Amino acid sequence: MKILLVGSGGREHALAWKLRQSPQCEQLFIAPGNAGTAQCGTNVPISELDVPALVKFARENGIALVVVGGEEPLAAGLVDEVRKAKLMAFGPTKEAAQIESDKAFSKQLMREASIPTAEARTFTDFTAARNYVLSRQGALVVKAAGLAKGKGAVVCEEPYQAVKPLEQMMVEKVFGAAGETVLVEDRLTGPEASVLSLCDGKNIYVLEPAQDHKPIGDGDTGPNTGGMGCYCPVPVITDAVLSQVEREIIVPAVDALRRRVGRFEGVLYTGLMLTASGPRVIEFNARFGDPEAQPVLMRLKGDLVEAMVAVCEHRLDEVTLGWDPRPAVCVVMASGGYPDKYAKGLPITGVDQADAMADVKVFIAGAQQEGDKLVTAGGRVLGVTALGDTIAAAKARAYEAVAKISWPGCYYRHDIADKAIAAATR
Ligand code: AMP
Ligand code: GLY
Repeated sequence: MKILLVGSGGREHALAWKLRQSPQCEQLFIAPGNAGTAQCGTNVPISELDVPALVKFARENGIALVVVGGEEPLAAGLVDEVRKAKLMAFGPTKEAAQIESDKAFSKQLMREASIPTAEARTFTDFTAARNYVLSRQGALVVKAAGLAKGKGAVVCEEPYQAVKPLEQMMVEKVFGAAGETVLVEDRLTGPEASVLSLCDGKNIYVLEPAQDHKPIGDGDTGPNTGGMGCYCPVPVITDAVLSQVEREIIVPAVDALRRRVGRFEGVLYTGLMLTASGPRVIEFNARFGDPEAQPVLMRLKGDLVEAMVAVCEHRLDEVTLGWDPRPAVCVVMASGGYPDKYAKGLPITGVDQADAMADVKVFIAGAQQEGDKLVTAGGRVLGVTALGDTIAAAKARAYEAVAKISWPGCYYRHDIADKAIAAATR
């Protein structure tokens, strides 16, 4: 079948790479794609937010399946429009995607379904929010309710520190309409993990857990980013914890969604914190994580096209997937200055040498081909991913590959997977 994948990040390169491996994938188009997706199929210059143009392309080119990578086209209703055109779409409807695009909706859903999560209050009025935080004691988290590219949550050690982010979001509107409603949440502590599940609205298939590294600096310091590296699986998520998460969180969430907005079809991403009193939800997302997709898909065995079609046809229970037993580690290489301002168009060297290493895959995120040169085009530029017999071996291999790649000012964390290595050797 012909497939159209929508998006342009490292996640989409990983998806394109995996979709391409399926014998069912006759032709793959990626809109708009990047230099990595171009190695797996044909890039089409249509923005991921141009819903009418994407649907028109799909109809005119005999596309059977549209796979939506990111949250913004989901929130723009791409899946709904593709379905109106009587084509298959992998991803939730606009209404179901509110589990990610509206944190107030998501929190309310969790309350209704008694899903363990941080206590939170929702505000649309700055003065009311300010008065509330100043009446509190202890650490808080201020969150924009709408989509903010992973940068909409600010952890505040002291309540008074919450006033500035509230003002930035609600008065200065740094995230536009996404920050008009905010949540003020109790700060939780403990290791974090991402549990991604394929979901057809009734059946779920829980993928192997992964752990992202959101802060820019080594030792989890500095501002949050979209994610600076990741590993899969996660030693602290034991089988017992995973079945508890499935039972107490994922199944009730899918059921509550079905009651409120209909079937959730696609990937339900559960961001967890493993607190002393059990797993708690930090956030839900409505798609594969980025960079989580890179190590997870590198380990996934089986036919992703078949699994996605089964989701669309509500028969996920018929699908069997397997896992490479070896752990995977992904190190994100970013432009110097990210997550603030950074330069673009800088020539990258060494990607081919790194990509040629056994058990290594360099997933391209923000980079473009200009003639025979690969140049930087975004904040997160590459996701260098490696398998190893142990998590330590996978880390060593990933960094060996990273060492072959460079461009002026390139930046990466040095401690990706150290938490897993410490847990595995304890
Ligand atoms: P979110 O945008 O909700 O995923 O939050 C981004 C990051 O902020 C998370 O990955 C956590 O590291 C942190 N965070 C969010 N909510 C909380 C919370 N309630 N307690 C502690 N940290 C949090
Ligand atoms: N890596 C975090 C996310 O995809 O939301």
